[in-house]
Amino acid sequence: MDISQPLPLLGGLSPQLFMKRHWQKKPLLIRRAISDFKPLLDRAQLFELAEHQDVQARLVMQQPGQTPGWHLKSGPFARRALPALSRPGWTVLVQGVDLQHDAVHALMNQFRFVPDARLDDLMISYASDGGGVGPHFDSYDVFLLQAQGRRRWRIGRQKDRSLQPDVPLKILAHFEPEEEFVLEPGDMLYLPLWYAHDGVALGECMTYSIGFRSPSRAELARELLQRLADDAEDAVGVAVYRDPRQAAVSEPAEVPAQLLEFARDALQDALKDPAALGRALGEYMTEPKANVWFPAPEPQTHRAGLAPGGPGRKIQLDRRSKMMFDAKHIYINGESFRAGGRDATLMRRLADQRYLTAQDLGRVSPEARCLLQDWQQAGWLHQL
Ligand code: SIN
Ligand code: CO
Repeated sequence: MDISQPLPLLGGLSPQLFMKRHWQKKPLLIRRAISDFKPLLDRAQLFELAEHQDVQARLVMQQPGQTPGWHLKSGPFARRALPALSRPGWTVLVQGVDLQHDAVHALMNQFRFVPDARLDDLMISYASDGGGVGPHFDSYDVFLLQAQGRRRWRIGRQKDRSLQPDVPLKILAHFEPEEEFVLEPGDMLYLPLWYAHDGVALGECMTYSIGFRSPSRAELARELLQRLADDAEDAVGVAVYRDPRQAAVSEPAEVPAQLLEFARDALQDALKDPAALGRALGEYMTEPKANVWFPAPEPQTHRAGLAPGGPGRKIQLDRRSKMMFDAKHIYINGESFRAGGRDATLMRRLADQRYLTAQDLGRVSPEARCLLQDWQQAGWLHQL
């Protein structure tokens, strides 16, 4: 993608300018971000997805006059478990539709001017008239693309982030909207994280949310320390605390100073190799979500394979595959590989473009070709 070229998707801003002026800073309303946009899934297809065990879906219903006035249910939902279309004030939200549909994945890829490590998923919501999830804020940056019908958004910077008590959803107690827009199909609204918003369906409506996760320091510290500790144990074996010189104690409740030293050493040891930290981060960022399964390759594809001298065909990453790289490594679906030279260039190209041409494939080393074959076997990539 040429990041200096103005895009209709960004209201005529280039990705460079959008990132400079709006990303994590201020909202942007884009009329006709995608002209003549038609929903990629119809209502019935979305409801079918909400029935799947492996798809995360939520149903939010407003119950006027009742306490609490909001009702939340987690999926999967049989079609008959969803309210009648004629009933106003409900919405069903289906996460990770990009993992289920190539066209939805392709739409999400239009936002790859933001690093993949930040891109989380594309969620689709269907709402009956008046439906929505109430005024709230997210710890996500989000592009809200109106796919079908109309939705009224009210948004505000919101200083007071206190939430309504005793409701099953995060609903702002004192929402202070500053602006209001009605979005038509193809219109899009970008909101930075923590920007308060409330979207209400004006008639039946579908909204696509392209969400960008902001991992917290605590989450990263927890995940990376766990991985680093496991790596250290793999490298040197299990090292247990030993205290042959421990004297008898008259205050048994006191934590031994030597145990604190042992713990400090363990942490320092786990953190001492900067390459290990980078590797743990890359592995974590490409770890597939718990509900992701890769389809086994078809037997015919298996035979065609990526064997040396095999038919020259393009390869493409499966839409579920997460592939990234850093200066020393290639990461794919939670695994890391050291790569250098021409192989590294080609693997990085595969990660960025998500495909390699037959010509590129002709230039990979036999070792890299073997890896690609393994990945094909795992269903992580396909030969076209
Ligand atoms: C929705 O699509 O109804 C909710 C999107 C959001 O407010 O984040
Ligand atoms: Co939101």
